[in-house]
Amino acid sequence: MQSFTMNDGHQIPALGYGVFQMTSAEVTEHLPQALELGYRHIDTANAYFNEVAVGEVVRDAIAAGAVTREDLFITTKLFPQSYPYAQCGKDIDATLERLGLDYVDLLLFHQPYGEYVAGWKAMEEAVAAGKVRSIGLSNFPIAKFQEILDVAEIIPAVNQVEAHPRWNQHELKAEMEQAAGTEVLVEAWYPLGHGDKTLLDEPAITAAARRTGATPAQVILAWHLAEKNVTFPKTLSRAHMADNLAVLDVELTPDEIAAINQIPQQPYYVIPDEPPAFTTTVMDYSQQA
Ligand SMILES: NC(=O)c1ccc[n+]([C@@H]2O[C@H](COP(=O)([O-])OP(=O)(O)OC[C@H]3O[C@@H](n4cnc5c(N)ncnc54)[C@H](OP(=O)(O)O)[C@@H]3O)[C@@H](O)[C@H]2O)c1
Repeated sequence: MQSFTMNDGHQIPALGYGVFQMTSAEVTEHLPQALELGYRHIDTANAYFNEVAVGEVVRDAIAAGAVTREDLFITTKLFPQSYPYAQCGKDIDATLERLGLDYVDLLLFHQPYGEYVAGWKAMEEAVAAGKVRSIGLSNFPIAKFQEILDVAEIIPAVNQVEAHPRWNQHELKAEMEQAAGTEVLVEAWYPLGHGDKTLLDEPAITAAARRTGATPAQVILAWHLAEKNVTFPKTLSRAHMADNLAVLDVELTPDEIAAINQIPQQPYYVIPDEPPAFTTTVMDYSQQA
């Protein structure tokens, strides 16, 4: 499995399996298939309400001897209700308890609202305590990323943001590297456009698909790898899971990558400055769907 090195020296598998909008029953059914096919990187979150199921699948796979904990890279995310310093340490412990794991490989602040500046210290303490290997952010625009840098002893290892050929995040990447003085990897959410078929039909993508014999989705994932974006496409289809892993063998030419980078830019989702209601509602994560 291809990996990238994060700015804290830890490796992250370039390709993983995302479980956003999967019920616990779907995780129980589909995550074992992903592990069986060779996925070793899982992306979940407190707010996905499926961490208990993710932990059960992982612990079953370890108990069966199919994988070791060290083979796996597990990411989860805290929502703003958990950021206040006094709460953050407790909610990291509760997260590990739900997952049934001693540590996670990567823990992110999921949304750029609330007391993220105060909470960052608790994230750093969790690293020191061995509960978390790497820490990072999600959906942070550059100004709020800078607020974290201003207090950080540990620079965020990643920023997980919307990224795909129609929103390539070149500007944010350059801004983060300039501000942090080191590379900050982009992890791409909506890497395939969240099921938007018109993205797959972009002429630069279908042209590369014709030349390589890969599918348009595979071309997009190969572009992500060439752009050094970490991706974890979501799929319930075993065939798509296998197709997405096989992308590690698809190589695009510099001209194909340049053509994809000419696609007009437009995000699906604009991150508002002020918190939308869904980020401030206090949720009970013990209730797993
Ligand atoms: N941090 C955040 O705020 C945030 C937000 C959104 C997502 N995420 C993370 O990013 C992950 C991926 O995002 P996402 O699930 O929203 O979008 P996505 O991966 O871009 O899109 C998922 C869609 O792509 C289809 N698909 C997957 N593989 C395919 C293939 N080889 N060929 C054709 N279609 C394929 C799936 O359909 P089939 O089931 O039919 O394959 C599904 O409809 C999430 O699971 C989550 O881990 C994070």
